Amino acid sequence: MIPAHSPHQHLLLGVTGGIAAYKAAELVRLLVKQGHRVQVVMTEAATHFITPTTLQALSGNPVFVDSWDQRISNGMPHIELSRKADAILVAPASADFIAKLAHGFANDLLSTLCLARECPLIVAPAMNKQMWENAATQRNIGQLQQDAITILGPDSGEQACGEVGLGRMLEPADLLEGLQTFFTPKLLAGKKILITAGATLEMLDPVRGITNISSGKMGYALAQAAMRMGAEVTLIYGHTSASRPATSQAYFASSAHDMYQSVMQSIADQDIFIAVAAVADYRPDVSSVQKIKKSEQTLTLELIKNKDILADVASLPNPPYCVGFAAETERVIDYAKQKRLAKRIPMIVANHANTAMGSDQNTVTIIDEHGEYALGTDDKINIAFKLLTHLKSQLDPR
Ligand code: CTP
Repeated sequence: MIPAHSPHQHLLLGVTGGIAAYKAAELVRLLVKQGHRVQVVMTEAATHFITPTTLQALSGNPVFVDSWDQRISNGMPHIELSRKADAILVAPASADFIAKLAHGFANDLLSTLCLARECPLIVAPAMNKQMWENAATQRNIGQLQQDAITILGPDSGEQACGEVGLGRMLEPADLLEGLQTFFTPKLLAGKKILITAGATLEMLDPVRGITNISSGKMGYALAQAAMRMGAEVTLIYGHTSASRPATSQAYFASSAHDMYQSVMQSIADQDIFIAVAAVADYRPDVSSVQKIKKSEQTLTLELIKNKDILADVASLPNPPYCVGFAAETERVIDYAKQKRLAKRIPMIVANHANTAMGSDQNTVTIIDEHGEYALGTDDKINIAFKLLTHLKSQLDPR
């Protein structure tokens, strides 16, 4: 049985005083939506930017500010609150709070919790550009890194003070991604993975083309999962409206020909190739330079075969470990097995095209040289983790 991914964590979210504190509301909402338990602790300064009531309502837990809070029965909130946490995330972390952490101060509840913790500490700096660039802040950040504290961000962009530069807090969705990455075991560290995703488009004339309804979501989920698992991911993506995850490299390829070229340019020294893209099998023999005008009752298009990217990669002299996808409308397992043998690839993932396309969920079966493994129905991101975990076991059997 392949283990599921993504255990839900108990997080202590520290909010310190800075304008980015308003984004803590969205962060708490996203964390809770992902199934994490969130305990918010604020500094007194943070309460000037956002109220404890807001964060209490969103987290579903009482918010603590004061070291002398009587609500914790044994009177030791600094021990009680951090003992339960799998990690402390301070977001936003002001320059002042970062300085406190660097020097081990414990003069309010949050800094005391950080000092008394036994769990990892993750910090998301947020401040104005000059404060971030100041030698003292840089020295303090260096100290936090030496103390094995994880730093997420800051981001660059427009700041509340009107300046543009480095210092903004990462957006809540990016912080969530950073946190998920932090908690994901780095099973694929040191591996290079090339993934194709989305649909190709074969132009008939400047305004029309032949494509398909692949959403690109499964390929993107695999790229995102592989990144979290520590791989170096190159994503070659076609047409899709799904939102693209951050990867080590990413190249757009419009047609099957473009995708072929792009894959072949990137394939050297890859450890794994996962072909998820729905590549057009045929393209128009001639793509008209001008718009095709309506004239006759019928229009006949002459189509010629595209090269098979996956089969060609698999037949390279020293191919990466190749994984194909077979989205079928009938005899799913049978056809997938035939495809695996025809393309001479070690692994293929079979799914039912009608239910998978466009959906956030998928029901897949892995077929490799040892047998069939049904992964059941799950969110595409979870399917991706299960698949990559299985793949890793094939690549480096213990
Ligand atoms: N594939 C590819 N290059 C192509 C066609 C397909 O790399 N020109 C890859 C797909 O990314 C997928 C696998 O091959 O991983 C199977 O694709 P699919 O379209 O299902 O199979 P085909 O070989 O095209 O067979 P058919 O369309 O007849 O089902």
